Amino acid sequence: MTESTTEPARQDLHPHTPTPPPAPAPVSFPQDRGCPYHPPTAYEPLREAGPLGRVTLYDGRTVRVVTGHALARDLLADPRLSSDRDRAGFPATSERLAKVRARRVALLGVDDPEHNTQRRMLIPNFSLKRISALRPQIQQTVDRLLDAMERQGPPAELVGAFALPVPSMVICALLGVPYADHEFFEERSRILLRGPGVTDVERARDELETYLGDLIDRKRREPGDGLLDELIHREHPDGPPDRDQLIAFAVILLIAGHETTANMISLGTFTLLRHPEQLDALRSGRTTTAVAVEELLRYLSIADGLLRVAREDIEVAGETIRAGEGLIFSTSLVNRDESAFAEPEALDWDRSARHHLAFGFGIHQCLGQNLARAELEIALHTLFERLPGLRLAAPAEEIPFKPGDTIQGMLELPVAW
Ligand code: HEM
Repeated sequence: MTESTTEPARQDLHPHTPTPPPAPAPVSFPQDRGCPYHPPTAYEPLREAGPLGRVTLYDGRTVRVVTGHALARDLLADPRLSSDRDRAGFPATSERLAKVRARRVALLGVDDPEHNTQRRMLIPNFSLKRISALRPQIQQTVDRLLDAMERQGPPAELVGAFALPVPSMVICALLGVPYADHEFFEERSRILLRGPGVTDVERARDELETYLGDLIDRKRREPGDGLLDELIHREHPDGPPDRDQLIAFAVILLIAGHETTANMISLGTFTLLRHPEQLDALRSGRTTTAVAVEELLRYLSIADGLLRVAREDIEVAGETIRAGEGLIFSTSLVNRDESAFAEPEALDWDRSARHHLAFGFGIHQCLGQNLARAELEIALHTLFERLPGLRLAAPAEEIPFKPGDTIQGMLELPVAW
């Protein structure tokens, strides 16, 4: 290339040509929220850029980001996108997550047809009918935890006393994992989701897999009650899952089953306490808890950043997503897309929020959503009914919440009543 074709030389030759405005700095993803129930303000340019944009990851790589609701639904249902973490180009939102993914993740990390085989083994246990039958047990768990909180008297730390134990006890009973071991697996899943270091994550994963492998071996010898026992002992049209497969199922169900819902309970409570009008409407019965839960799921979008990679070139929104390009679905922005939700910044019980994508969409749409809804409805309804004077026991701005690179929720929630 000759010197005259370079950019500075051209500018010298045409001094009156206006210099184009500098390209906007790429937005990095993920970022910490400034307020635990709003997407980071630094994501604003992404909303303005249309349904498909670009973000940079921790390692400087650029990937596509989907922020439009209609486009997100189309793409999440598109078999040309892959969830296989081993496929070249699959995005990682932190070094820690890149390392964890080096292991096989059941369901979430598997494409069809294998994904379908795995999901068929589990789906009967998460049907609306099966979950409805669990409601009395969930109610009992919630009541007992609130009894203990009341006995102890205010103040209380709601994450440890209520938000975490509700889903943790429920998923233990559902899987057939002894709740007595909850400190062990809650700590391991906390490290798996939040680190800090890569070695911590790998050790936690090994320990959790060893624990669940031993539990599965015991269950083979002495069948008990629970989904893991059913998986071991019932007839499967596709053949029984092997030991590694059972461990992989147990890991994802145990972690997804308690971390996500715990965050929704803590952040949902915080959000309601910060929105007294909406809380009042809920308490007075002007709206149902089921409606409020759906809107809270949209508004909080706690799983913000679903990951995929393109298997082949895809033409969408006037652009070509190239094979091997990574994609991130920012659910917090998708669920605030004005073309799908009028006045999306408002927490509004009167809208229909049911088409939100807080549980994802397509083949990987949350397997546990019926369970999560039942737990959230019972937990939030009973909490505010039993403790009508519930309030924050510290200034809202001082209450710590989770960083942007993990499921969103409160780290602590000091309350009084
Ligand atoms: C409010 C609570 C919850 C939220 C917000 C949530 C959110 C999600 C999202 C967004 C996905 C899709 C991820 C993707 O497409 O990449 C997902 C998948 C999944 N969730 Fe949930 N989840 C919740 C509760 C639960 C519970 C209680 C369970 C369990 C027992 C569970 C088990 C799963 C499983 C197994 C998958 C993978 C499904 C598949 O790949 O076929 N989740 N969840």
